[in-house]
Amino acid sequence: MIKNCLFPVAGYGTRFLPATKAMPKEMLPLVNKPLVQYGVEEAQEAGMDNFGFVTGRGKRAIADHFDISYELEHQIQGSGKEAMLSDIRGLIENNTFSFTRQHHMKGLGHAILSGKPLVGDNPFAVLLADDLCVGDAPGNGVLKQMSELYNQFRCSIVAIQEVPADQTHKYGVIAGESMKDGLYRITDMVEKPAPEDAPSNLAIIGRYILTPDIFDIIEQTPPGKNGEVQITDALMTQAKKGCVLAYKFKGQRFDCGSVDGFVKATNYVYENVYTPD
Ligand code: UTP
Repeated sequence: MIKNCLFPVAGYGTRFLPATKAMPKEMLPLVNKPLVQYGVEEAQEAGMDNFGFVTGRGKRAIADHFDISYELEHQIQGSGKEAMLSDIRGLIENNTFSFTRQHHMKGLGHAILSGKPLVGDNPFAVLLADDLCVGDAPGNGVLKQMSELYNQFRCSIVAIQEVPADQTHKYGVIAGESMKDGLYRITDMVEKPAPEDAPSNLAIIGRYILTPDIFDIIEQTPPGKNGEVQITDALMTQAKKGCVLAYKFKGQRFDCGSVDGFVKATNYVYENVYTPD
C-alpha cells in the first residue's frame, strides 16, 4: 500500500500575480480552505500518511499551515471557532509532514528528484495541489482510485483526462494501447505539443503514482521542453523499459492554477463541499 505522497510546491504561480507575489499559490483558498489542504485530504483518504513537500523560497506559509499555531489556538480556546480548526488539527496529529527545498527551478522532474530523501526507496504518489480533483463518489478520490490500480499492476500510473485539441499545448499528452475501460498502457508521450503534434487528446493532470526507479531515470534525463527536466520525458523512458499506465479517472478536475479554473472550483466547493460551522 502506498503511504508516501510528494507535493512539489516550488513553482512561482506567475499566472496568479500579484496574489502570488508573497504568498504561495498553494495557499490560495477555495472558500475557507487552502488548495494544499484539499490535496493532503485527498492523499489521506487514499491511505497515505507521510507527506513530503518540495518547497522553494517564499513558501514558508505551507509549513506553518501544517503546524500548531499556539497563540491563535490559545486565543480561540473554548469558543465556537475551535471547531473550524478541527480538520487541520486531525491532519497534523495523524500524519507526518516533512519539507525540503528545490533551490533552482529546473522543472517538475527535478522537483520530484529533490523530494527523494522524503519518500525513500518506496513507491509514492505525486500531487500537484493546483489541480483540485473530486472523485465520482464520496470516499472515492482520484488518488484512492489510482492507489487501488497500483496495488493491482505495481507500476507507475498517471491520471489523464480528455482535453480539447486547442489545449494540448498546456499538458503532457499520451498515446497508449487500451487495456480496459479508461486504462491505457503508454506507448508515447509528448510534453506540451501543438495540436498538430499531439498523439491524442489524453492529457496528463496533476496526479501520479511513481515507482522509485524513476529517481535514477530522472537523474539521467536531460532538460527537455523549455529547458526544464520534464517528468514526462523520464516516464517515457520508464514506459520503454517496462510499463507505465495512464488512467482516465472517475470524477472532475479543476485547474486552479488558472483564474478561470480557480473561479469554477470556488463555485463548486461553495455549492457542493463547504459546510458553514
Ligand atoms: P506549473 O507549470 O503550474 O508552474 O507547475 P507554476 O510556477 O506553479 O505556475 P505558473 O505557470 O507560473 O502560474 C506545475 C507544478 O509543478 C511545481 C509547481 O509548484 C506546480 O505545482 N514545480 C514546477 C516545482 O515544484 N518546481 C519546478 O521547477 C517546476
